[in-house]
Amino acid sequence: MKILITGGAGYIGSHTAVELLEQGHEVVILDNFCNSSPEVLRRIEKITGKKPALFCGDVRDRDIVGQIFAQNDIDWVIHFAGLKAVGESCRLPLAYYDNNLYGTIVLLETMQQYGCKKIIFSSSATVYGTPERLPLDENCQVGQTTNPYGSSKYFQEVILRDLQRADNEWTVVLLRYFNPVGAHPSGLIGEDPKGIPNNLTPYVAKVAIGELDCVKVYGNDYDTPDGTGVRDYIHVVDLARGHAAALNGITEPGTYVYNLGTGNGYSVLQVIASFEKACGRPLPKVITGRRDGDIASSYANADKALRELGWRAEYTLDDMCSSLWHWQTLNPKGYSK
Ligand code: NAD
Ligand code: UFG
Repeated sequence: MKILITGGAGYIGSHTAVELLEQGHEVVILDNFCNSSPEVLRRIEKITGKKPALFCGDVRDRDIVGQIFAQNDIDWVIHFAGLKAVGESCRLPLAYYDNNLYGTIVLLETMQQYGCKKIIFSSSATVYGTPERLPLDENCQVGQTTNPYGSSKYFQEVILRDLQRADNEWTVVLLRYFNPVGAHPSGLIGEDPKGIPNNLTPYVAKVAIGELDCVKVYGNDYDTPDGTGVRDYIHVVDLARGHAAALNGITEPGTYVYNLGTGNGYSVLQVIASFEKACGRPLPKVITGRRDGDIASSYANADKALRELGWRAEYTLDDMCSSLWHWQTLNPKGYSK
């Protein structure tokens, strides 16, 4: 199949491109590189021996999106392109709604115009807000989001559902990712956050490499086994395979929702301990106050993806940390050498 990956140069998009190319699919990437590097394309080619077609531009730009569909017979779209920093979204809500919502609308209108009606959308566990129950299953309440980024994900889910309801030829797959971490086993592609990372594992990796002084543990007074926050970390390669499972397995139009997680929750201290094992030394850490907006625990019930798509996460937390450490040591400055 021929698959358009918007945001295909990004962290999850690049791993998904590799997975799909290795499965024999053709890949077209649209990216404006606002949070990624063109170097990613060379790395994808190095891993797979195949060169994805690249359109360098913005998903909000009707001309370039139209060109892609005019020049390519696209079977499926996987829509990763978007802004994703929670804190930034609180400062710049309009930028987030413009990029994430308007981008999705332009993409969907163009798809409709060219008769391509199959889309996989990158949603997030953030749509569940404060969990109604744990583990989170796909029927848990959504929409009580706590920041503009999360709201943009929820609104995009609503837009996609409404579109499918209005035109039942559409296949809409909403994949709710839990916490993607780790890197491709080659160490050639991985997460390359700009500036000081907001997320736990890239921050820990930068402490391990000596770029940052000390891991800050945001609170140890949560109602969790060791008092620190618990999350469902999922290896990015497993996540990439979840996308492949969806587009290989879903053959009928409709709206489909799946959690992509492991079903296991790990605390901040457990993640740090696993990373210490990977890098072979203890890491400096300090307990600080809670971070605004954080919840105690979030982990998935991922049974539906197993039942319906035959997909389940295979990698362990130790695999995630060791692959991240491998990527970090091979690329201490990320893609910018
Ligand atoms: P990322 O920033 O690495 O990748 C996003 C890519 O989209 C980047 O290459 C960026 O340059 C591109 N992009 C952004 N806006 C664009 C636009 N208007 N036009 C064209 N390209 C654009 O992020 P990621 O971690 O790979 O996340 C991919 C998707 O998954 C995002 O939609 C994100 O919200 C979602 N998601 C991520 C996480 C996570 O923790 N990483 C969790 C849940 C959901
Ligand atoms: N944490 C620390 N120190 C840090 C960073 C994080 O202790 O320096 C803690 C947090 O308090 C939390 C846990 O580590 O308990 C995980 O935090 P992350 O920032 O790595 O991840 P979140 O669960 O907060 O959010 C991430 C993405 C969201 C996405 C969500 C679910 O940032 O965009 O996962 O997929 F929606």
